[in-house]
Amino acid sequence: MDVYGVIGNPVGHSLSPLMHQAALDALGIPARYVAFCVQNLTAAVQGIRGLNLRGVSVTLPFKTEVMDLLDGVEAGARAIGAVNTIVNDHGRLTGFNTDGTGLIRDLREVMDIEGRRFAVLGAGGAARAAVFGLVQAGGIPVVLNRTARKGEALAADFGCTFCPLAEAAGVEADCLINTTPVGMAPGDDRSPLPADVPGRFPWVVDIVYTPLRTRFLREAAAAGCRTRSGLGMFIHQGAEQLRIWTGRTAPVDLMRRVVEARLIKAG
Ligand code: ATR
Repeated sequence: MDVYGVIGNPVGHSLSPLMHQAALDALGIPARYVAFCVQNLTAAVQGIRGLNLRGVSVTLPFKTEVMDLLDGVEAGARAIGAVNTIVNDHGRLTGFNTDGTGLIRDLREVMDIEGRRFAVLGAGGAARAAVFGLVQAGGIPVVLNRTARKGEALAADFGCTFCPLAEAAGVEADCLINTTPVGMAPGDDRSPLPADVPGRFPWVVDIVYTPLRTRFLREAAAAGCRTRSGLGMFIHQGAEQLRIWTGRTAPVDLMRRVVEARLIKAG
């Protein structure tokens, strides 16, 4: 039986085991997917080789730090500067990043990307993945960030423009995407922008999916915007991980159903 897993700290809240185990079972792949709470990253990565884990998801806070410990990093993950997926090929570990692909596949379910403008809020690893994915897909991102220096650096890396967060209301875009952790459960009912700003954008997307309806999305919906939570991005990034690990097409609808049911049950 093959073993897959997620490494992070904390990982108790991770929905990856639920999602991936359901997918592996549905595909008839005899495997277990386990959450590993990492105490020592170097030892953990060596353990992937030592225990012959076939594939590993990487979550916070290790997505960047893990890169130096791998044998290779695929070009997209290198451009993003973060790895969320490791493939173990007979002890040789290669890093990938499926977050950008996940976002693009989810957006494509509801909108065109080529030639459209996207206001991307944030300049961390999630924002880098989003901007990378959007540029690859022919979209035109505008980076909005609280700290100008970080936002400008991200925009320069991907050849797009930067706008200070305080000037968000003046940005013209087809879609506004929050990539910051603001509004993530538990106990954070903040929005990254004043309530009157999201209403200026036809589409408003939050990459947060705990809760499914963040304050940011609730205020956008109240202002008449079409909205999308981060659930679809999470499902699609996982589906791409499964494809990389097994070569199989993931049962996306099933994965979405099990994760959504858990999120609704959790309130
Ligand atoms: P990740 O790698 O998960 O994207 P990160 O690297 O910590 O996380 O980046 C978090 C992003 O959220 C940053 O762009 C941060 O803005 P700063 O660059 O100004 O720090 C943004 N962020 C976090 N809290 C915020 C808040 N309360 N308002 C606006 N932006 C916030």
